[in-house]
Amino acid sequence: MQRQPLIASGLALLGAVSATPALSADLTISCGAVGAELALCEQGVEAWEAETGHEVEIVSTPNSSTERLSLYQQILSARSDDIDVLQIDVVWPGLLANHLLDLQETLGKDAAAGHFETIVANNTVDGRLVAMPWFTDAGVLYYRKDLLEQHGVEPPETWQQLTDIATEIQSAEREAGNDKMWGYVFQGRAYEGLTCNALEWVASQGGGTLVDADGEITIDNENAAAALDLAASWIGEIAPQGVLNYTEEEARGIFQSGNAVFMRNWPYAWSLAQSEDSEVAGKVGVVKLPHGPDGDSAAALGGWNLAVSRYSEHPDLAAELVAFLTGEAEQKRRAIEAAYNPTLTSLYKDEEVLEAVPFFGTLYDTFTNAVARPSAVTGDNYGRVSNGFFNAVHEVLSGNQSGAEAVSDLDSELSRIKRRRW
Ligand code: GLC
Repeated sequence: MQRQPLIASGLALLGAVSATPALSADLTISCGAVGAELALCEQGVEAWEAETGHEVEIVSTPNSSTERLSLYQQILSARSDDIDVLQIDVVWPGLLANHLLDLQETLGKDAAAGHFETIVANNTVDGRLVAMPWFTDAGVLYYRKDLLEQHGVEPPETWQQLTDIATEIQSAEREAGNDKMWGYVFQGRAYEGLTCNALEWVASQGGGTLVDADGEITIDNENAAAALDLAASWIGEIAPQGVLNYTEEEARGIFQSGNAVFMRNWPYAWSLAQSEDSEVAGKVGVVKLPHGPDGDSAAALGGWNLAVSRYSEHPDLAAELVAFLTGEAEQKRRAIEAAYNPTLTSLYKDEEVLEAVPFFGTLYDTFTNAVARPSAVTGDNYGRVSNGFFNAVHEVLSGNQSGAEAVSDLDSELSRIKRRRW
């Protein structure tokens, strides 16, 4: 009885973007719509349609990974066959595995050969390959080359240097008349993106990764508390109050219109920041994120994969579409046109790719050593764990709790989740 409204409300939120009515399409795929993502997905799908003569409907999903997850959970738990191919976050295989097909059964046991082994392992749950790697992600630091040069400073290596440079350039720019200038923008909304940012702050300052590889909760420590306090000190000083509600695209908007010295974002922002209608084209550099006295730079591992729903009525065809979209030609096109990191290792040696996105070469180690969120070890509790973390961090950024209080409360909350389930 309750199924229908659930699916209907889910799909209304999704919003079909194809002009083709759903019933005449052979398949439906859900794609992200951050930056140029949707256009890129459409182009890839069109190429497959031209090659195979099939028709595919594309539905776009909300930009926030957290919102996308709850939508997928609604649709999948209702066993709806409305979506055949799902774009899933690197932290979801454990959460969604039961609803997804083993792609080795349709694409063969070497389906994922040539892709980064860590991602293939991440997407393999109980021996089943539940998603094919599509693109990988790691947090990086964007900076205004022109402004740093003017001030005679190098890109920061530590968070303290970032804070100091941001403060200095922000105030000089404001004095020179740009009263909208800010020092640093990042993703501060209470959602999955804040989990990524905060994991980077904490891990790079010797505070660990929230839950370690053995499933032990490690967040209640002084370094983690200090990392959160430092981030809270940025709000209203070098970061606008509004950053508490920023996702990737809001941060990019501020940086790309020339109103921030530094930005934390994923590689996709590169092509857009360098595009013709960007105020900062030609003025942007990309380096690894800063670290603290007790740690090394840490980039959160992100990325998206393509999976086939267990409830699809066309699983073989859906798997073929997945193989095409995750194949070399598409990954190369997406890397060159829009700076989406390939998951095929060979493309990091491709000259055209490296020319389009030089930091795919210079930051190669950052991409291969990125720090994973504790999704594999917490399995189907990851959603609760991440929610607890980003809410706790948001309280600190908002000035409602100290770092020490927040990590202590979070430790209790995670312990309760762990006692019941992981
Ligand atoms: C990016 C990452 C993804 C992460 C999300 C958080 O899309 O690829 O893994 O969960 O950002 O906002």
